[in-house]
Amino acid sequence: MMSMRSRCDSTPAWSQLSACFEGRGRYFDLRTAFAQDPGRYAALSLQAPHVFADLSKNLIDASLQATLTRLAQECDVAGHREAMFRGEHINPTEDRAVMHWLLRHPGADLPAAVQDEHAEVREVLDAMLAYAQAVREDAAITDIVNIGIGGSDLGPQMAVLALDEFVDQSKRYHFVSSVDGHELSAVLRQVRPESTLFLVASKSFTTLETMTNARSARAWFTAQGGRDIARHFCALTSHVQAAAEFGISTTFGFWDWVGGRYSMWSAIGLPIAIAIGPQRFRELLAGAHEMDTHFCTAPLARNLPVQLALLDLWYRNFHGFTSRSVAPYHSGLRRMQAYLQQLEMESNGKRVDASGRALPYATSPVIWGEPAANGQHAYFQMLHQGSDVIPVEFIAVKKVAHGLPEHHHKLLANGLAQAQALMLGQQDAAGHRHMPGNRPSTFLLLEELTPASLGALIALYEHRVFVAGSLWGINSFDQWGVELGKVLAKDIEPRLVSGDVVGLDASTAGLLQRLRDTR
Ligand code: F6P
Repeated sequence: MMSMRSRCDSTPAWSQLSACFEGRGRYFDLRTAFAQDPGRYAALSLQAPHVFADLSKNLIDASLQATLTRLAQECDVAGHREAMFRGEHINPTEDRAVMHWLLRHPGADLPAAVQDEHAEVREVLDAMLAYAQAVREDAAITDIVNIGIGGSDLGPQMAVLALDEFVDQSKRYHFVSSVDGHELSAVLRQVRPESTLFLVASKSFTTLETMTNARSARAWFTAQGGRDIARHFCALTSHVQAAAEFGISTTFGFWDWVGGRYSMWSAIGLPIAIAIGPQRFRELLAGAHEMDTHFCTAPLARNLPVQLALLDLWYRNFHGFTSRSVAPYHSGLRRMQAYLQQLEMESNGKRVDASGRALPYATSPVIWGEPAANGQHAYFQMLHQGSDVIPVEFIAVKKVAHGLPEHHHKLLANGLAQAQALMLGQQDAAGHRHMPGNRPSTFLLLEELTPASLGALIALYEHRVFVAGSLWGINSFDQWGVELGKVLAKDIEPRLVSGDVVGLDASTAGLLQRLRDTR
Protein backbone atom coordinates (compact mmCIF):
# COMPACT_ATOMS: atom_id res chain seq x y z
CA MET A 1 0.00 0.00 0.00
CA MET A 2 2.70 2.47 1.03
CA SER A 3 4.96 1.74 -1.94
CA MET A 4 2.15 2.87 -4.28
CA ARG A 5 2.43 6.41 -2.97
CA SER A 6 4.94 8.86 -4.41
CA ARG A 7 8.03 9.41 -2.34
CA CYS A 8 8.41 13.08 -1.47
CA ASP A 9 11.62 13.60 -3.48
CA SER A 10 10.03 12.28 -6.67
CA THR A 11 7.21 14.84 -6.76
CA PRO A 12 7.03 18.09 -8.78
CA ALA A 13 6.39 19.97 -5.52
CA TRP A 14 9.73 18.75 -4.11
CA SER A 15 11.55 20.12 -7.18
CA GLN A 16 9.74 23.39 -6.73
CA LEU A 17 10.65 23.47 -3.04
CA SER A 18 14.31 22.90 -3.99
CA ALA A 19 14.11 25.81 -6.40
CA CYS A 20 12.40 27.99 -3.76
CA PHE A 21 15.06 27.14 -1.22
CA GLU A 22 17.93 27.87 -3.59
CA GLY A 23 16.18 31.09 -4.59
CA ARG A 24 14.99 33.12 -1.62
CA GLY A 25 14.01 30.35 0.83
CA ARG A 26 17.53 30.03 2.20
CA TYR A 27 17.66 33.78 2.87
CA PHE A 28 14.11 34.15 4.18
CA ASP A 29 14.03 36.83 6.85
CA LEU A 30 11.23 36.87 9.41
CA ARG A 31 11.64 40.54 10.24
CA THR A 32 11.31 41.54 6.60
CA ALA A 33 8.37 39.18 6.16
CA PHE A 34 6.48 40.79 9.05
CA ALA A 35 7.34 44.28 7.84
CA GLN A 36 6.07 43.52 4.34
CA ASP A 37 2.89 41.70 5.30
CA PRO A 38 0.69 43.11 8.08
CA GLY A 39 -1.64 40.13 7.69
CA ARG A 40 1.09 37.57 8.26
CA TYR A 41 0.10 36.59 11.82
CA ALA A 42 -3.56 36.06 10.85
CA ALA A 43 -2.71 34.21 7.65
CA LEU A 44 -0.25 31.86 9.29
CA SER A 45 -2.13 31.03 12.44
CA LEU A 46 -4.54 28.18 12.80
CA GLN A 47 -7.19 27.10 15.28
CA ALA A 48 -7.57 23.34 15.74
CA PRO A 49 -9.68 21.74 18.50
CA HIS A 50 -8.30 22.99 21.85
CA VAL A 51 -5.01 24.09 20.26
CA PHE A 52 -4.28 27.45 18.67
CA ALA A 53 -1.07 27.54 16.64
CA ASP A 54 0.85 30.62 15.59
CA LEU A 55 3.07 29.49 12.73
CA SER A 56 3.95 33.02 11.64
CA LYS A 57 7.43 33.00 13.21
CA ASN A 58 8.47 30.19 10.86
CA LEU A 59 10.62 30.58 7.76
CA ILE A 60 7.74 30.36 5.30
CA ASP A 61 5.24 32.63 3.60
CA ALA A 62 1.83 31.92 2.10
CA SER A 63 3.26 30.92 -1.26
CA LEU A 64 5.78 28.51 0.23
CA GLN A 65 3.08 27.11 2.49
CA ALA A 66 0.98 26.44 -0.61
CA THR A 67 3.86 24.57 -2.26
CA LEU A 68 4.43 22.53 0.89
CA THR A 69 0.72 21.73 0.99
CA ARG A 70 0.95 20.58 -2.62
CA LEU A 71 3.72 18.23 -1.57
CA ALA A 72 1.30 16.63 0.90
CA GLN A 73 -1.24 16.26 -1.91
CA GLU A 74 1.26 14.77 -4.33
CA CYS A 75 2.45 12.30 -1.68
CA ASP A 76 -1.19 11.31 -1.14
CA VAL A 77 -1.03 11.88 2.59
CA ALA A 78 -4.84 11.97 2.57
CA GLY A 79 -5.03 8.52 0.95
CA HIS A 80 -2.59 7.14 3.49
CA ARG A 81 -4.57 8.73 6.33
CA GLU A 82 -7.77 7.19 5.00
CA ALA A 83 -6.09 3.78 4.80
CA MET A 84 -5.17 4.12 8.49
CA PHE A 85 -8.73 5.10 9.38
CA ARG A 86 -10.13 2.17 7.37
CA GLY A 87 -8.04 -0.24 9.43
CA GLU A 88 -5.74 -1.30 6.58
CA HIS A 89 -2.41 -2.84 7.47
CA ILE A 90 -0.30 0.27 7.01
CA ASN A 91 2.45 -1.17 9.25
CA PRO A 92 3.93 -3.43 6.57
CA THR A 93 6.95 -4.83 8.43
CA GLU A 94 4.72 -6.21 11.19
CA ASP A 95 1.69 -6.68 8.92
CA ARG A 96 -0.54 -4.77 11.32
CA ALA A 97 -3.26 -2.18 11.24
CA VAL A 98 -2.63 1.08 13.10
CA MET A 99 -5.76 1.92 15.06
CA HIS A 100 -4.94 3.80 18.25
CA TRP A 101 -7.54 6.31 16.98
CA LEU A 102 -10.22 3.61 17.43
CA LEU A 103 -9.56 3.63 21.19
CA ARG A 104 -11.08 7.11 21.40
CA HIS A 105 -13.78 6.78 18.76
CA PRO A 106 -17.35 7.23 20.03
CA GLY A 107 -18.64 4.62 17.58
CA ALA A 108 -20.87 6.35 15.04
CA ASP A 109 -20.06 6.01 11.31
CA LEU A 110 -17.27 3.51 11.72
CA PRO A 111 -16.28 1.38 8.72
CA ALA A 112 -17.84 -2.12 8.98
CA ALA A 113 -14.35 -3.65 8.94
CA VAL A 114 -13.49 -2.26 12.39
CA GLN A 115 -16.83 -2.49 14.18
CA ASP A 116 -15.99 -5.76 15.95
CA GLU A 117 -12.73 -4.30 17.22
CA HIS A 118 -14.61 -1.25 18.41
CA ALA A 119 -17.06 -3.37 20.39
CA GLU A 120 -14.08 -5.01 22.12
CA VAL A 121 -12.55 -1.58 22.79
CA ARG A 122 -15.74 -0.40 24.52
CA GLU A 123 -15.98 -3.56 26.56
CA VAL A 124 -12.41 -3.29 27.90
CA LEU A 125 -12.75 0.45 28.43
CA ASP A 126 -15.92 0.04 30.50
CA ALA A 127 -14.37 -2.73 32.58
CA MET A 128 -11.14 -0.83 33.10
CA LEU A 129 -12.95 2.35 34.13
CA ALA A 130 -15.15 0.42 36.56
CA TYR A 131 -11.98 -1.05 38.07
CA ALA A 132 -10.38 2.42 38.21
CA GLN A 133 -13.41 3.73 40.08
CA ALA A 134 -13.30 0.84 42.53
CA VAL A 135 -9.62 1.55 43.22
CA ARG A 136 -10.41 5.25 43.71
CA GLU A 137 -13.06 4.35 46.28
CA ASP A 138 -10.78 1.91 48.06
CA ALA A 139 -9.29 4.03 50.83
CA ALA A 140 -7.06 1.14 51.88
CA ILE A 141 -5.07 1.55 48.63
CA THR A 142 -2.88 4.62 48.99
CA ASP A 143 -0.10 3.96 46.46
CA ILE A 144 -0.31 3.09 42.78
CA VAL A 145 2.97 1.79 41.34
CA ASN A 146 3.09 1.58 37.56
CA ILE A 147 5.82 -0.76 36.36
CA GLY A 148 6.42 -0.29 32.64
CA ILE A 149 8.81 1.34 30.20
CA GLY A 150 8.68 3.29 26.92
CA GLY A 151 5.08 3.56 25.79
CA SER A 152 3.98 1.66 28.90
CA ASP A 153 5.38 4.44 31.08
CA LEU A 154 5.86 7.76 29.32
CA GLY A 155 2.25 8.51 28.31
CA PRO A 156 0.66 7.70 31.69
CA GLN A 157 3.44 9.44 33.60
CA MET A 158 3.29 12.55 31.42
CA ALA A 159 -0.53 12.71 31.66
CA VAL A 160 -0.76 12.16 35.44
CA LEU A 161 1.69 15.05 35.95
CA ALA A 162 -0.03 17.26 33.40
CA LEU A 163 -3.48 16.72 34.89
CA ASP A 164 -2.41 17.22 38.50
CA GLU A 165 -5.27 19.64 39.06
CA PHE A 166 -7.72 16.77 38.44
CA VAL A 167 -5.80 14.05 40.27
CA ASP A 168 -7.16 12.30 43.36
CA GLN A 169 -4.61 13.54 45.88
CA SER A 170 -5.51 10.92 48.47
CA LYS A 171 -3.29 8.47 46.63
CA ARG A 172 0.31 8.64 45.46
CA TYR A 173 1.38 7.65 41.95
CA HIS A 174 4.80 6.13 41.29
CA PHE A 175 6.35 5.17 37.98
CA VAL A 176 9.12 2.61 37.85
CA SER A 177 10.61 2.11 34.40
CA SER A 178 14.37 1.49 34.42
CA VAL A 179 15.96 -1.81 35.39
CA ASP A 180 18.30 0.32 37.50
CA GLY A 181 17.42 -1.08 40.93
CA HIS A 182 17.67 2.38 42.50
CA GLU A 183 14.30 3.23 40.97
CA LEU A 184 12.33 0.30 42.31
CA SER A 185 14.00 0.30 45.71
CA ALA A 186 13.35 4.04 46.16
CA VAL A 187 9.63 3.41 45.59
CA LEU A 188 9.49 0.26 47.73
CA ARG A 189 11.00 2.24 50.61
CA GLN A 190 7.92 4.48 50.56
CA VAL A 191 5.12 1.91 50.31
CA ARG A 192 3.56 -0.96 52.25
CA PRO A 193 2.22 -4.15 50.70
CA GLU A 194 -1.29 -3.86 52.14
CA SER A 195 -1.86 -0.38 50.72
CA THR A 196 -0.13 -0.70 47.32
CA LEU A 197 -1.49 -1.60 43.91
CA PHE A 198 1.15 -2.63 41.37
CA LEU A 199 0.21 -2.18 37.71
CA VAL A 200 2.45 -4.27 35.48
CA ALA A 201 2.20 -2.51 32.12
CA SER A 202 3.75 -4.17 29.11
CA LYS A 203 2.27 -4.68 25.69
CA SER A 204 4.51 -7.68 25.05
CA PHE A 205 4.84 -8.82 28.68
CA THR A 206 8.41 -9.81 27.84
CA THR A 207 10.32 -6.52 28.20
CA LEU A 208 13.41 -7.17 30.30
CA GLU A 209 13.17 -4.06 32.46
CA THR A 210 9.48 -4.48 33.22
CA MET A 211 9.61 -8.19 33.90
CA THR A 212 12.66 -7.80 36.15
CA ASN A 213 10.95 -5.02 38.13
CA ALA A 214 7.68 -6.96 38.28
CA ARG A 215 9.40 -10.08 39.62
CA SER A 216 11.29 -8.05 42.22
CA ALA A 217 8.11 -6.22 43.25
CA ARG A 218 6.28 -9.54 43.64
CA ALA A 219 9.18 -10.98 45.67
CA TRP A 220 9.20 -7.88 47.90
CA PHE A 221 5.43 -8.11 48.31
CA THR A 222 5.50 -11.71 49.53
CA ALA A 223 8.64 -11.15 51.63
CA GLN A 224 6.82 -8.28 53.39
CA GLY A 225 3.93 -10.57 54.24
CA GLY A 226 1.68 -9.56 51.35
CA ARG A 227 -0.68 -12.38 50.44
CA ASP A 228 -3.34 -11.29 48.05
CA ILE A 229 -1.59 -10.97 44.65
CA ALA A 230 -4.98 -10.84 42.94
CA ARG A 231 -5.86 -7.67 44.85
CA HIS A 232 -2.46 -5.98 44.70
CA PHE A 233 -1.25 -6.77 41.16
CA CYS A 234 -2.97 -5.93 37.93
CA ALA A 235 -1.61 -6.43 34.39
CA LEU A 236 -2.07 -4.20 31.33
CA THR A 237 -0.99 -6.12 28.27
CA SER A 238 -1.87 -7.55 24.90
CA HIS A 239 -0.48 -10.92 26.14
CA VAL A 240 -3.13 -11.86 28.66
CA GLN A 241 -1.89 -15.44 28.83
CA ALA A 242 1.64 -14.33 29.81
CA ALA A 243 0.19 -12.23 32.63
CA ALA A 244 -1.77 -15.24 33.89
CA GLU A 245 1.40 -17.34 33.81
CA PHE A 246 3.12 -14.65 35.87
CA GLY A 247 0.39 -15.14 38.46
CA ILE A 248 -1.73 -12.05 37.85
CA SER A 249 -5.44 -12.66 37.61
CA THR A 250 -6.71 -9.12 37.02
CA THR A 251 -5.73 -8.13 33.49
CA PHE A 252 -6.93 -5.50 31.04
CA GLY A 253 -5.97 -6.33 27.51
CA PHE A 254 -5.37 -4.47 24.29
CA TRP A 255 -4.50 -5.36 20.74
CA ASP A 256 -1.48 -5.66 18.45
CA TRP A 257 -2.84 -2.77 16.37
CA VAL A 258 -2.05 -0.37 19.24
CA GLY A 259 1.61 0.63 19.02
CA GLY A 260 3.37 0.92 22.40
CA ARG A 261 4.03 4.64 21.97
CA TYR A 262 0.39 5.20 20.92
CA SER A 263 -1.09 3.22 23.79
CA MET A 264 -1.99 5.68 26.55
CA TRP A 265 -5.63 5.58 25.33
CA SER A 266 -5.80 1.82 25.95
CA ALA A 267 -5.57 -0.23 29.16
CA ILE A 268 -2.08 1.28 29.49
CA GLY A 269 -3.96 4.44 30.54
CA LEU A 270 -5.23 2.79 33.74
CA PRO A 271 -2.99 4.86 36.04
CA ILE A 272 -4.42 7.98 34.41
CA ALA A 273 -7.97 6.70 34.87
CA ILE A 274 -7.32 5.93 38.56
CA ALA A 275 -5.74 9.35 39.03
CA ILE A 276 -8.37 11.50 37.30
CA GLY A 277 -11.42 9.22 37.35
CA PRO A 278 -13.53 7.58 34.64
CA GLN A 279 -15.37 10.70 33.51
CA ARG A 280 -12.20 12.74 33.06
CA PHE A 281 -10.55 9.82 31.27
CA ARG A 282 -13.45 9.80 28.83
CA GLU A 283 -12.89 13.56 28.34
CA LEU A 284 -9.25 12.84 27.50
CA LEU A 285 -10.41 10.37 24.85
CA ALA A 286 -13.02 12.81 23.57
CA GLY A 287 -10.44 15.60 23.18
CA ALA A 288 -8.20 13.27 21.19
CA HIS A 289 -11.15 12.26 19.03
CA GLU A 290 -11.86 15.92 18.28
CA MET A 291 -8.33 16.21 16.95
CA ASP A 292 -8.80 12.98 14.93
CA THR A 293 -11.85 14.58 13.33
CA HIS A 294 -9.92 17.75 12.55
CA PHE A 295 -7.13 15.66 11.02
CA CYS A 296 -9.59 13.70 8.89
CA THR A 297 -11.76 16.57 7.72
CA ALA A 298 -9.87 19.89 7.66
CA PRO A 299 -8.46 20.82 4.26
CA LEU A 300 -4.72 20.14 4.10
CA ALA A 301 -3.97 23.87 4.03
CA ARG A 302 -5.81 24.37 7.36
CA ASN A 303 -4.96 21.02 8.89
CA LEU A 304 -2.69 21.53 11.88
CA PRO A 305 -0.96 18.12 12.03
CA VAL A 306 -0.31 18.38 8.29
CA GLN A 307 1.07 21.90 8.45
CA LEU A 308 3.35 21.11 11.41
CA ALA A 309 4.71 18.03 9.63
CA LEU A 310 5.35 20.04 6.46
CA LEU A 311 7.36 22.54 8.50
CA ASP A 312 9.31 19.65 10.00
CA LEU A 313 10.17 18.45 6.51
CA TRP A 314 11.03 21.92 5.27
CA TYR A 315 13.46 22.45 8.15
CA ARG A 316 14.97 18.97 8.10
CA ASN A 317 15.37 18.40 4.39
CA PHE A 318 15.93 21.90 3.00
CA HIS A 319 17.34 24.05 5.80
CA GLY A 320 19.16 21.03 7.25
CA PHE A 321 18.16 21.76 10.86
CA THR A 322 18.90 18.65 12.88
CA SER A 323 16.82 19.14 16.00
CA ARG A 324 13.71 20.74 17.42
CA SER A 325 13.50 22.02 20.96
CA VAL A 326 10.19 21.66 22.80
CA ALA A 327 9.58 24.45 25.28
CA PRO A 328 6.56 23.93 27.53
CA TYR A 329 5.62 26.95 29.65
CA HIS A 330 3.66 24.86 32.14
CA SER A 331 5.35 22.75 34.78
CA GLY A 332 2.64 20.09 34.38
CA LEU A 333 4.11 19.39 30.95
CA ARG A 334 7.53 18.58 32.36
CA ARG A 335 7.57 15.03 30.93
CA MET A 336 6.23 16.14 27.57
CA GLN A 337 9.65 16.15 25.88
CA ALA A 338 10.39 12.62 27.08
CA TYR A 339 7.03 11.51 25.75
CA LEU A 340 7.61 13.23 22.41
CA GLN A 341 11.10 11.80 22.11
CA GLN A 342 9.69 8.31 21.96
CA LEU A 343 6.70 9.29 19.86
CA GLU A 344 8.71 11.08 17.20
CA MET A 345 12.14 9.50 17.26
CA GLU A 346 11.05 5.88 17.67
CA SER A 347 8.44 6.42 14.96
CA ASN A 348 10.41 8.39 12.39
CA GLY A 349 14.05 7.71 13.25
CA LYS A 350 14.37 5.51 10.17
CA ARG A 351 16.83 5.41 7.27
CA VAL A 352 14.92 3.20 4.85
CA ASP A 353 11.52 3.57 3.23
CA ALA A 354 8.54 1.36 3.97
CA SER A 355 9.79 -1.25 1.51
CA GLY A 356 13.31 -1.27 2.93
CA ARG A 357 15.15 0.90 0.38
CA ALA A 358 17.74 3.34 1.73
CA LEU A 359 16.54 6.94 1.74
CA PRO A 360 18.63 9.74 0.25
CA TYR A 361 17.27 12.34 2.70
CA ALA A 362 17.18 12.89 6.45
CA THR A 363 14.19 11.92 8.60
CA SER A 364 13.34 12.56 12.27
CA PRO A 365 15.04 15.52 13.93
CA VAL A 366 16.34 15.14 17.47
CA ILE A 367 13.59 16.22 19.89
CA TRP A 368 14.76 17.70 23.15
CA GLY A 369 14.03 20.28 25.79
CA GLU A 370 13.03 20.99 29.36
CA PRO A 371 10.25 23.00 30.97
CA ALA A 372 11.24 26.24 29.37
CA ALA A 373 11.37 28.56 32.36
CA ASN A 374 14.30 26.40 33.49
CA GLY A 375 15.64 25.96 29.97
CA GLN A 376 15.96 29.73 29.67
CA HIS A 377 18.58 29.64 32.42
CA ALA A 378 20.42 26.71 30.91
CA TYR A 379 20.53 26.05 27.17
CA PHE A 380 18.60 28.99 25.69
CA GLN A 381 21.97 30.71 25.30
CA MET A 382 22.68 28.23 22.52
CA LEU A 383 19.27 28.73 20.95
CA HIS A 384 19.96 32.46 20.68
CA GLN A 385 23.66 32.56 19.84
CA GLY A 386 24.83 29.03 19.08
CA SER A 387 26.15 28.06 15.66
CA ASP A 388 23.14 25.83 14.88
CA VAL A 389 19.66 27.07 14.14
CA ILE A 390 17.20 25.06 16.26
CA PRO A 391 13.49 25.63 15.70
CA VAL A 392 11.69 25.95 19.03
CA GLU A 393 8.16 24.82 19.80
CA PHE A 394 6.60 26.87 22.59
CA ILE A 395 3.60 25.38 24.40
CA ALA A 396 1.73 27.79 26.66
CA VAL A 397 -1.54 27.62 28.60
CA LYS A 398 -3.72 30.69 29.00
CA LYS A 399 -5.64 29.89 32.21
CA VAL A 400 -4.05 28.12 35.13
CA ALA A 401 -5.39 26.56 38.31
CA HIS A 402 -3.10 28.13 40.89
CA GLY A 403 -4.05 31.41 42.51
CA LEU A 404 -0.80 33.21 41.76
CA PRO A 405 -1.63 35.44 38.76
CA GLU A 406 1.59 37.38 39.03
CA HIS A 407 3.56 34.18 38.50
CA HIS A 408 1.56 33.31 35.44
CA HIS A 409 1.99 36.74 33.87
CA LYS A 410 5.71 36.53 34.38
CA LEU A 411 5.80 33.01 32.92
CA LEU A 412 3.79 33.96 29.83
CA ALA A 413 5.77 37.17 29.37
CA ASN A 414 8.94 35.10 29.32
CA GLY A 415 7.57 32.69 26.74
CA LEU A 416 6.48 35.53 24.46
CA ALA A 417 9.77 37.35 25.00
CA GLN A 418 11.88 34.32 24.14
CA ALA A 419 10.01 33.74 20.89
CA GLN A 420 10.37 37.43 20.11
CA ALA A 421 14.09 37.47 20.96
CA LEU A 422 14.75 34.42 18.79
CA MET A 423 13.12 36.20 15.87
CA LEU A 424 14.36 39.76 16.36
CA GLY A 425 17.84 39.11 17.63
CA GLN A 426 20.05 42.01 18.56
CA GLN A 427 21.60 43.02 15.31
CA ASP A 428 22.90 46.40 16.35
CA ALA A 429 25.07 44.84 19.05
CA ALA A 430 28.55 43.70 18.17
CA GLY A 431 30.77 40.81 19.16
CA HIS A 432 29.65 38.78 22.14
CA ARG A 433 26.39 40.66 22.43
CA HIS A 434 25.37 40.23 18.82
CA MET A 435 22.32 38.01 18.35
CA PRO A 436 21.55 37.13 14.75
CA GLY A 437 17.82 36.56 15.25
CA ASN A 438 15.69 35.11 12.45
CA ARG A 439 15.48 31.92 14.51
CA PRO A 440 12.15 30.20 13.86
CA SER A 441 9.58 29.12 16.39
CA THR A 442 6.04 27.80 16.59
CA PHE A 443 3.74 28.87 19.40
CA LEU A 444 1.07 26.40 20.52
CA LEU A 445 -1.50 27.80 22.89
CA LEU A 446 -4.09 25.95 24.97
CA GLU A 447 -6.92 27.78 26.67
CA GLU A 448 -6.57 25.49 29.71
CA LEU A 449 -4.75 22.27 30.47
CA THR A 450 -7.65 19.85 30.89
CA PRO A 451 -8.12 16.18 30.05
CA ALA A 452 -9.78 17.20 26.77
CA SER A 453 -7.10 19.70 25.73
CA LEU A 454 -4.28 17.32 26.68
CA GLY A 455 -5.96 14.58 24.63
CA ALA A 456 -6.19 16.92 21.65
CA LEU A 457 -2.57 18.03 22.02
CA ILE A 458 -1.24 14.47 22.13
CA ALA A 459 -3.39 13.39 19.18
CA LEU A 460 -2.05 16.42 17.30
CA TYR A 461 1.50 15.19 17.85
CA GLU A 462 0.57 11.62 16.89
CA HIS A 463 -0.88 12.76 13.58
CA ARG A 464 1.97 15.14 12.87
CA VAL A 465 4.36 12.20 13.26
CA PHE A 466 2.14 10.15 10.95
CA VAL A 467 2.17 12.87 8.28
CA ALA A 468 5.95 13.39 8.48
CA GLY A 469 6.47 9.62 8.18
CA SER A 470 4.03 9.49 5.30
CA LEU A 471 5.83 12.31 3.44
CA TRP A 472 9.16 10.57 3.99
CA GLY A 473 7.66 7.25 2.87
CA ILE A 474 8.75 5.41 6.00
CA ASN A 475 6.93 3.01 8.28
CA SER A 476 6.36 5.06 11.43
CA PHE A 477 4.96 2.09 13.34
CA ASP A 478 7.80 -0.37 13.79
CA GLN A 479 11.03 -0.03 15.84
CA TRP A 480 13.47 -2.68 14.68
CA GLY A 481 16.40 -0.51 15.70
CA VAL A 482 15.83 -1.23 19.38
CA GLU A 483 16.20 -5.01 19.03
CA LEU A 484 19.96 -5.49 18.53
CA GLY A 485 20.90 -3.91 21.85
CA LYS A 486 18.43 -6.19 23.64
CA VAL A 487 20.00 -9.29 22.05
CA LEU A 488 23.55 -8.17 22.87
CA ALA A 489 22.60 -7.39 26.49
CA LYS A 490 21.34 -10.97 26.86
CA ASP A 491 24.74 -12.22 25.71
CA ILE A 492 26.67 -9.83 27.97
CA GLU A 493 24.73 -10.31 31.21
CA PRO A 494 26.06 -13.82 32.04
CA ARG A 495 29.57 -12.71 31.05
CA LEU A 496 29.45 -10.12 33.85
CA VAL A 497 29.26 -13.08 36.21
CA SER A 498 31.52 -15.56 34.41
CA GLY A 499 34.10 -13.08 33.13
CA ASP A 500 34.09 -14.76 29.73
CA VAL A 501 35.14 -12.19 27.11
CA VAL A 502 35.72 -14.59 24.23
CA GLY A 503 34.46 -13.15 20.96
CA LEU A 504 33.92 -9.64 22.33
CA ASP A 505 35.54 -6.58 20.79
CA ALA A 506 38.46 -5.21 22.80
CA SER A 507 36.55 -2.19 24.10
CA THR A 508 33.55 -4.14 25.39
CA ALA A 509 35.86 -6.79 26.85
CA GLY A 510 38.00 -4.17 28.62
CA LEU A 511 35.01 -2.36 30.08
CA LEU A 512 33.40 -5.61 31.17
CA GLN A 513 36.53 -6.63 33.01
CA ARG A 514 36.76 -3.25 34.75
CA LEU A 515 33.12 -3.48 35.81
CA ARG A 516 33.69 -6.97 37.23
CA ASP A 517 36.80 -5.82 39.11
CA THR A 518 34.93 -3.04 40.87
CA ARG A 519 31.94 -5.11 41.96
O1 F6P B 1 12.08 -1.45 23.13
C1 F6P B 1 11.18 -0.50 22.66
C2 F6P B 1 9.77 -0.83 23.06
O2 F6P B 1 9.34 -1.95 22.37
C3 F6P B 1 8.83 0.34 22.84
O3 F6P B 1 8.38 0.42 21.54
C4 F6P B 1 7.76 0.05 23.83
O4 F6P B 1 6.95 1.15 24.12
C5 F6P B 1 8.60 -0.38 25.02
O5 F6P B 1 9.67 -1.11 24.44
C6 F6P B 1 7.91 -1.22 26.04
O6 F6P B 1 7.36 -2.36 25.47
P1 F6P B 1 6.30 -3.24 26.24
O7 F6P B 1 5.09 -2.39 26.46
O8 F6P B 1 6.03 -4.40 25.34
O9 F6P B 1 6.91 -3.67 27.53
